[in-house]
Amino acid sequence: MGGMKYMGSFLWCAIFLYYVSVNTISVVGISAAQDLTLTPKELQALTKFREMVKPRLENEHDYMKSDIYLIRWLRAKNLNLRQAENMLMENLKWRKQYNIDGIHDEDWSDMFQDYPYTNDTFDLAGRPIGAFSLSDWDFRKAIASGKQVRLFRFMIKLLDEATNAVLRLQQEGKNVTQWKVLMNMEGFNLVQHGCGSCLPGFSYFVQAYENYYPGFADAIVTINTPSAFQVVLNLVRPVFTPQTRESLKVFGTNRAQWMAYLDKEISKDQRYPEYGGTRKPRF
Ligand SMILES: *[C@@H]1O[C@H](CO)[C@@H](O)[C@H](O)[C@H]1NC(C)=O
Ligand SMILES: *[C@@H]1O[C@H](CO)[C@@H](O)[C@H](O)[C@H]1NC(C)=O
Repeated sequence: MGGMKYMGSFLWCAIFLYYVSVNTISVVGISAAQDLTLTPKELQALTKFREMVKPRLENEHDYMKSDIYLIRWLRAKNLNLRQAENMLMENLKWRKQYNIDGIHDEDWSDMFQDYPYTNDTFDLAGRPIGAFSLSDWDFRKAIASGKQVRLFRFMIKLLDEATNAVLRLQQEGKNVTQWKVLMNMEGFNLVQHGCGSCLPGFSYFVQAYENYYPGFADAIVTINTPSAFQVVLNLVRPVFTPQTRESLKVFGTNRAQWMAYLDKEISKDQRYPEYGGTRKPRF
């Protein structure tokens, strides 16, 4: 059963590892200004797209009518109007089918306790940060107690919550279009992971991100990432879009390296000690 222990951990971890192999760690995420700036081609596509989907968004949230929301689907589909429309409609269908709007009203207290994360910090550009430590996330517990599906839903909740935070900031007039994820991989151990059976769950989650929250990640940063994890990378490579690949920033255990990166992105008072910051730990 030792292999089970970290099985689910792959879900979270594998997402973040593609980056190692593409060797582009110095790439910095696009700024909100860039994200909000439309090329002439994008503007042209967006103008058409807005008209196309207008009738179908009539009874939907206001944020769904905003340019920055609509452009996500176009960019994910290289400005192909039909494909972007299908993608957006699939998203609406999925949100209804799984009652994603209601996800935040559910009682998650058990999950908050077993799978702690922080969402109360912001990067230098004002983007909300979700941060968690793998060592806190005991996936075996979820599997053993029949909560695997619940854990997936909880992870969707985190995606949706971060996205809502961005949309809220926009409504307040802030130039924030994306969120960031920080992940401390310390404690991860590939040897213990018989990962074959975790891949379906993993790809479910990555696909949920790609399909329903496309382009919302400015950066997904892992620190203290074991090099052995690259094996997983090769398995999951096909799942990622180029955009997601670019947002992945994978750092190993070399503290100087990830510190240099994080110092450029997030002030120390917005980082908990495990990320080299001065913020008082919450757990
Ligand atoms: C937000 O970005 C846009 C586009 O770059 C710019 O025109 C606007 O002044 C910015 N607003 C704020 C509040 O910084
Ligand atoms: C942080 O999480 C709590 C609990 O889910 C939520 O109520 C709050 O809105 C979140 N804050 C942000 C900035 O996402």
